[in-house]
Amino acid sequence: MLLPRLMGHRGFAARAPENTLSALRAAAEAGIRWVEIDVQLLADGTPVIWHDAHMARCSNSRAFLSQVGLAEARRFDVGSWFSPEFAGERIATLEEALATVNELGLGLNLEIKVSTARDPLRLTEAVVPLLNGALPSDRLLLSSFSQEALYRAHRLDPSLNLGILYDEKVPRVWQWDVERVGAVSIHANWENLNPNIVKEMRQKGLEVVCYTVNDPEAFSPWWECGVNSVISDDPTLFSQLSDAAEYPQGEDNEHQPSDPIAD
Ligand code: G3P
Ligand code: MG
Repeated sequence: MLLPRLMGHRGFAARAPENTLSALRAAAEAGIRWVEIDVQLLADGTPVIWHDAHMARCSNSRAFLSQVGLAEARRFDVGSWFSPEFAGERIATLEEALATVNELGLGLNLEIKVSTARDPLRLTEAVVPLLNGALPSDRLLLSSFSQEALYRAHRLDPSLNLGILYDEKVPRVWQWDVERVGAVSIHANWENLNPNIVKEMRQKGLEVVCYTVNDPEAFSPWWECGVNSVISDDPTLFSQLSDAAEYPQGEDNEHQPSDPIAD
């Protein structure tokens, strides 16, 4: 098994400004072993750690990433919106984030974030070469909603661990998607998941990751259904799972969620 039970969403979104180096450090300090962060390109082609197409929500700027280069993007404060404690935080490049993740001994789920009207291939081609040798392969997973990005990543480096993200209900063709890119994991919105599909995925040897889970109690039946891993804004909410090795693996468990989320 590659993935841990818990991953910090956008670093550790509940505790520090999302997708920043401070969020990575906060995650490590809290004992979180893996983090999920998003990567996209600035106008000058620099891959940076950021979720939205624009900077309005998480900085003191209203710029679009597609319109600013690194020098300009660095002028903006990306920490104060969250708390004065983080004033002066700057947007992180992918290279800085990789170095920090490595330094902290974290595992990384790097999401290739293709915003509307942006080019998945250009982004993937900028990201993949930077991953080479940046982290041990068992501490790195590349994921995306974009099948084009995943396919390109697979062609550029077939040794990469790839995860397929689905937002709406998992499509019937999910097995084709998996084969096309040699995916090791499926990442599903847990509100749109079906227990039978989880079982099929596990039977195919895939790891099943659910996002974004902030209610451990409501989620608990899904562990027994076979879900491997959860992405949470606050993984410490799941403190009873801190010893992941002792948590049931799911395969042999007959329990199924009785929730209406099942088809
Ligand atoms: O990787 C899971 C999750 O991060 C996907 O949604 O919008 O938070 O990037 P989003
Ligand atoms: Mg993400």
